[in-house]
Amino acid sequence: MAHYPITRLRRNRRSSEIRRMIAETRLDPADFIYPMFVCPGQGVRKEIAAMPGNYHLSVDEIVKEAEAVYRLGVPAILLFGIPEYKDAVGSAGWQADGPVQEALRAIKAAVPELVLITDVCLCDYTDHGHCGVVSGQEILNDPSLEYLARIAYSHAEAGADYVAPSDMMDGRVGAIRQRLDSEGLTHVGIISYAVKYASAMYGPFREALDSTPVFGDRRSYQMDPANSREALREAQLDLAEGADIIMVKPALAYLDVIKLVADEFPVPIAAYNVSGEYSMVKAAAAKGWIDEKAVALEMLLSMKRAGADLILTYWAKDAAKWLKEEH
Ligand code: PBG
Ligand code: ZN
Repeated sequence: MAHYPITRLRRNRRSSEIRRMIAETRLDPADFIYPMFVCPGQGVRKEIAAMPGNYHLSVDEIVKEAEAVYRLGVPAILLFGIPEYKDAVGSAGWQADGPVQEALRAIKAAVPELVLITDVCLCDYTDHGHCGVVSGQEILNDPSLEYLARIAYSHAEAGADYVAPSDMMDGRVGAIRQRLDSEGLTHVGIISYAVKYASAMYGPFREALDSTPVFGDRRSYQMDPANSREALREAQLDLAEGADIIMVKPALAYLDVIKLVADEFPVPIAAYNVSGEYSMVKAAAAKGWIDEKAVALEMLLSMKRAGADLILTYWAKDAAKWLKEEH
């Protein structure tokens, strides 16, 4: 290949329209999934302190918000539930009249096109804050599967299009697939948090959900940040158990893992731009130290460039607006 002075790479960067034409990667509101938090009550719209711009919303309020999200061109939301009560097995998670289940029905009725995804885990609902049931200090694997399947079934039955298990117990995708199929819900998909690391980046979220474990940490079930080849095994097993979409989480410090998984498996890949990644930027921007919009769009673009087809992000609404302003 010819080189300088014949070749000048700056020619392809001369104007914004040339750059737009040359761009290898593009962000689109259709890539975004907006995580939302539904709580009990009526008329509740309470901002989450560590995640400015995100709220605890009661069912009536979340319906309005879901309509706004869809109008911005974002096709999907991910629902988290704030329960009425917590207990040892997370039974608030599978009540037919729980906040998530009620929200699913209400949003489906108001915005039928919006894709509804639910987070399936025990930690929102357990008094000990772990993602599985416990015995003493131990987080039990196999006994947790039945409870996770109950939560997933209750979401699917209330209208979820996809359930997204985030617990990292071995075998949960298979257990959930089997339960859904045995109930005739073969059309409901599974987005597996297959490659989920034991990260310090979930701090703001755990505050929002009051789901910090009361003892120990999540390192006996979430992945060690030191490992990337292990991500391939997690993804491979979840696909074999019936996952439809594979997620890597967090995103920013794991772009290499997104790339690795995306190059290996011909399935849709989702990246979770987690709470800590969002809050860091919000905090620095509030101090006037960085430009939130520019930094957020650059981060989201990097996730796409790494190979993510979908991005779960608290910026979904803002980013959809920003992308519209740009063109
Ligand atoms: C629940 C769950 C967590 C997140 C998504 N689902 C927290 C955790 O595993 O501790 C994190 C989301 C975020 O930080 O934005 N298992
Ligand atoms: Zn959990």
